[in-house]
Amino acid sequence: MTEQQFILNPDSYRDIAETIEKGKITWESPSNIALVKYWGKKKDQIPENPSVSFTLSNCKTITTLSFTKKTNDLVFSFDVFLDNERKDDFKPKIETFFNRIELYSPFLKDYHFKIETTNTFPHSSGIASSASGMSALALCLMSLEKQLVGAMDESYFNKKASFLARLGSGSACRSIEGDVVVWGTHKDIEGSSDLYGVKYPSKIHENFQNYQDTILLVDKGEKQVSSTVGHDLMHNHPYALERFKHANDNISELISIFRSGDLNAFISLIESEALTLHAMMMTSMPYFILMKPNTLEIINRIWTFRKKTGLHVGFTLDAGANVHVLYPEKESEPVIEFINNELVAYIENAQYIVDKIGLGAKQL
Ligand code: PMV
Repeated sequence: MTEQQFILNPDSYRDIAETIEKGKITWESPSNIALVKYWGKKKDQIPENPSVSFTLSNCKTITTLSFTKKTNDLVFSFDVFLDNERKDDFKPKIETFFNRIELYSPFLKDYHFKIETTNTFPHSSGIASSASGMSALALCLMSLEKQLVGAMDESYFNKKASFLARLGSGSACRSIEGDVVVWGTHKDIEGSSDLYGVKYPSKIHENFQNYQDTILLVDKGEKQVSSTVGHDLMHNHPYALERFKHANDNISELISIFRSGDLNAFISLIESEALTLHAMMMTSMPYFILMKPNTLEIINRIWTFRKKTGLHVGFTLDAGANVHVLYPEKESEPVIEFINNELVAYIENAQYIVDKIGLGAKQL
């Protein structure tokens, strides 16, 4: 699909819109963790390379959008609440989002919105809420659009929700569906697009069913470099072109791993991806390091444990110090025991979140 196909003509809903004065819509939307990373973008969150993620299950945002028709349709009007507390500091980001999507959601100035949101994961845990938060808001807006136009097929709904979420925060477009999502055009994945995320269309071996992701909260502080700045530093980066090619090659490899169920190959691939992401940060100008000493301590302990036990435990990293420990469901017991015995010493307040692959967002 093209951008043009997501443009909504106000004439197509004017009559129904007359009758919709107010309403309330709630969606819960999960976070996601990239296996092959997106790092570097063109204008409007068009990724420099495709990425593939696991949709998560327990880490999610729940957003209620209440809307009331207003008479003045010249400006956006909305209030934002996090955990029932007014959050005026969230407004500029949402205003920017509304400006970017107005062409595709031209009804935004017809209503006053109350946006109430809450996250299931602890506030300032270092877990980015932008993916789950932006996708939840995009889904609420799509439900309103669906009411205005009368009917909409599910595939268009999901694609446009993902398309809008992308304009809010790139990786948010991978949080609409589960359980594995691809965003960015890849030669071997039919239907893949730079504009939105799609459910991975091919066979996935049963080894990946209910795959576990336990997130170790190493550092809950504010990130020293935002992902926006990080993406920008991929422009004129000496290794950028190689990296973008490498990500494409890694996706081809991941396709064959998903087919064969080869967990050792899977671990090598995701760990290499995580370290490559951080290597890009360390080799940009200016350079920066988001891992902390405890991140490295945990990685080394995972490697030693894996060597000793032969269990299929591996890690990936986001743009931060937290460690996502990935392992198959049937190895959960010894891995959780290992986390409790050996890794909790390296995480803030012994706090970790047991999560797993999930099925995508849900309307409540
Ligand atoms: O969606 P953004 O702009 O916050 O970028 C996310 C980038 C990574 O989390 C580091 C990688 C990814 O693909 O999610």
